[in-house]
Amino acid sequence: MYEDLLPHTLPSETKRLDQMGRAHDPDTQAAIRRLNLPSASTCLDIGTGRGSVAIWLAQTMPDAKIVAGDLDLSSVRQNDLPNLKLAKMDVRTEDLGEGLYDLVHCRAVLCFLPTRTEILDRIRRALKPGGAFVVTEMDFGPIASGPSRFWASFWTAYLENAAAQDWDFEFGGQLPRLLAGLGFAEIDARYVQPILNHAGDTPGAAEAETWSLTLATLASKLIDNGHMPESMLREALEIIRNPNAWTAGPGFMVATARRPTQDA
Ligand SMILES: C[S@@+](CC[C@H](N)C(=O)[O-])C[C@H]1O[C@@H](n2cnc3c(N)ncnc32)[C@H](O)[C@@H]1O
Repeated sequence: MYEDLLPHTLPSETKRLDQMGRAHDPDTQAAIRRLNLPSASTCLDIGTGRGSVAIWLAQTMPDAKIVAGDLDLSSVRQNDLPNLKLAKMDVRTEDLGEGLYDLVHCRAVLCFLPTRTEILDRIRRALKPGGAFVVTEMDFGPIASGPSRFWASFWTAYLENAAAQDWDFEFGGQLPRLLAGLGFAEIDARYVQPILNHAGDTPGAAEAETWSLTLATLASKLIDNGHMPESMLREALEIIRNPNAWTAGPGFMVATARRPTQDA
């Protein structure tokens, strides 16, 4: 389970989550801005991590009410925002309610949860009619079949390790079709493929550092379970940490959708 392999108690976890926010917040914020939410929106961020999206929402919409939910809230950045409430929740079992939110946001969470499609349906019901859902999930499909043989083999091995614990790193690619099938409307999806360059202070560098920390954390699992030899992991980390390399990383689907004003 996610909480066993990537717990918030790991010494590098705060840094890894910070880098993830730095890498992805620009695309998430752009997607949320396109939705023109009411200023007094009620918002829920599921699996908030460091809380970068929830904190940004609370700061940019002072009249809004933001709930930041996570299994473990210990990594949420210190703040004294009066319109931000923390809620310990396990989205696998949490009653998300009916018709409560103008916005639900969820990034890099559902791929780790075997009941991800059922959770999407509960998220739809938790939205007010016309309320918006912003979801970002990994989609390794293109990179695992990419033109570089080593890179494709490495990420395929990583995908297989993930699949062995019921993590679905191709879930992002299925999102638009799943959202449509569940009755969401106004579905818009963008595929974002960061170029990894481990230098400077850019979102691409943050993404490279996120992968560097994630792979270092999962190294023994990847090797001991026989998904890849140590030499393969070492070579991949050398590419990811090379400040002179510009290498396409795994992609992400950023999707927005709304609960129809009247459910079918
Ligand atoms: C990969 S991190 C992403 C954090 C944040 N959404 C971001 O993109 O910066 C996944 C987060 O989801 C949380 N999480 C994992 N399983 C969860 C569950 N069943 N219910 C609620 N949160 C969960 C983890 O504790 C972690 O904070």
